[in-house]
Amino acid sequence: MTGVPAVVAVRVDVPPAPYDVLVGSGILGEVATTVGDRRRVAVVSQARVAELYAPRLLEVLPSADLFLMGDGEDHKTIATVGDLARRFAAAGLLRDDAVVALGGGVVGDTAGFAAAVYHRGVDVVQVPTTLLAQVDSAIGGKTGVNLPEGKNLVGAFHQPIGVVADVATLADLPAREYRSGLGEVAKYALLEGVGGELDTLLREESTAVLGREPTVLADLVRRCATIKARVVAGDPEERTGSRATLNLGHTLAHALETAGRHRLTHGEAVAVGLVFAGALAEATGRIDAATADRYRSLPAALGLPVRVPAGPAGDAAGGGTDGASEGDDGVEVGSDALLALMRRDKKAAGGFTFVLPGPGGVERVDDPPAGALARAFAAVGVRG
Ligand SMILES: NC(=O)c1ccc[n+]([C@@H]2O[C@H](COP(=O)([O-])OP(=O)(O)OC[C@H]3O[C@@H](n4cnc5c(N)ncnc54)[C@H](O)[C@@H]3O)[C@@H](O)[C@H]2O)c1
Repeated sequence: MTGVPAVVAVRVDVPPAPYDVLVGSGILGEVATTVGDRRRVAVVSQARVAELYAPRLLEVLPSADLFLMGDGEDHKTIATVGDLARRFAAAGLLRDDAVVALGGGVVGDTAGFAAAVYHRGVDVVQVPTTLLAQVDSAIGGKTGVNLPEGKNLVGAFHQPIGVVADVATLADLPAREYRSGLGEVAKYALLEGVGGELDTLLREESTAVLGREPTVLADLVRRCATIKARVVAGDPEERTGSRATLNLGHTLAHALETAGRHRLTHGEAVAVGLVFAGALAEATGRIDAATADRYRSLPAALGLPVRVPAGPAGDAAGGGTDGASEGDDGVEVGSDALLALMRRDKKAAGGFTFVLPGPGGVERVDDPPAGALARAFAAVGVRG
C-alpha cells in the first residue's frame, strides 16, 4: 500500500478523560501524537515483539527507553511489575511521563498495571499487537497481574490516554494466536446480534478475515472496538453489570481453561463457550434454534473449536499445525467437574451465573435448570 495510511478513531467516553482507539494499517507512528510532549517515555515490550516494532516506535519517540519483560502468562506477575518500577525509577521516569505498552494482552495488562501504580499513576498508551489485544484487552482500562492463587487477582482500573491498533502487526502473529483473537471477534458479533453488521461482515468476508486482508481487518477491529467502547462507557468500572455482558461465552471458557491447564487458548475456550451459551439459551427457551445454530456456525467458520476436545487439545483446535496439537493432556473432563469450576468463577455470587442471549438482548442469567445445563453440555460434547 502507498500513500498516507488511513486512520479511524473510535472514541471511548469514560472518566477521567475520554480517549481514542486509532485503527489502521501501518499507523505505529501515530503513537507519537498520542504521547504528545511528555518528556520521557518508557516503552514496555517483549523481545520478539520489540524486535519487530520497537525500531519504528523509537524512531518516532526519540526520548523513549525500551524495557523488556518476559513472554507468556507466567511473567504477568507482581515480580515483573516490581522489576519494571525499579527500572523506571533508575531511568528517571516521573509522574508526568508516559508508559507505552507494546505487545499483546500480557504486556498490556502488566505494563498498564505498572503505570497505574508507579508514582501513584502515570499515563499509559496501549499499542496492542495481537488481535485479542486490539479488539479487547487494550480498551477499557482493566490492568492487572496473576497470583499463584488465580489469574488477574491483583489489578486496577487505569484507562489509557490512547490506543493505537495497527492491524499491519497482525500479519506477523502465529496462526494459533490469530485464531484465538477470532474467538473474541465472534463474541462481539454475537453480542451485537445474529444478522447484525459484524455478523454479516464475518459471513461475507470470512476468506479475507482468515487471510488477514488489512482493509477488512481494519474494519473488523474498528467494529469490535466500537462495541467494546460503547459497553465500557456504559459501565466503566463494572458496577452496574452491563460491562459483564462482555463475558458472553466466558463462564464455560474460564472453567475449560482451568480444567485443561491452559492447553486451550483463551479464544479457543471462548469459542466453545459461545456454542454452550447458545445451546443453553435455546434449552431455556430464550432463543430459537436458528439463532442457537449461529452460535455454533460462526466460530466453526472462523476455524475455531466448537466442542470440548476429547483427546489432545489440537484435535479440536481447528486442525492447526502450529503448536495446537503439542502434548497429550487435552481437556478430558465431565460436566460435574466443569460445574464445580463454574460455581467458583469469581463473577458468580454463590450459584451459577451465565451471560446469555434472549429476547431483550444479551444479559445475565442466574441458576438455569439442571436439564437445560445437561443439554448445553451435550451440545459441546461433554459427558454427564
Ligand atoms: N485487560 C483486559 O480487559 C483483558 C481482556 C482479555 C484478555 N486479557 C489478558 O490478555 C492476555 C492474553 O493476551 P494475548 O492473547 O494478546 O497473549 P500474549 O500477550 O501472551 O501474546 C501472545 C504471543 O504473541 C506474541 N506476539 C504479540 N504480538 C505479536 C506480533 N504482532 N507478531 C508476533 N508475535 C506477537 C507475544 O510475544 C506472545 O508470545 C491474558 O493475560 C488475559 O488475561 C486482558
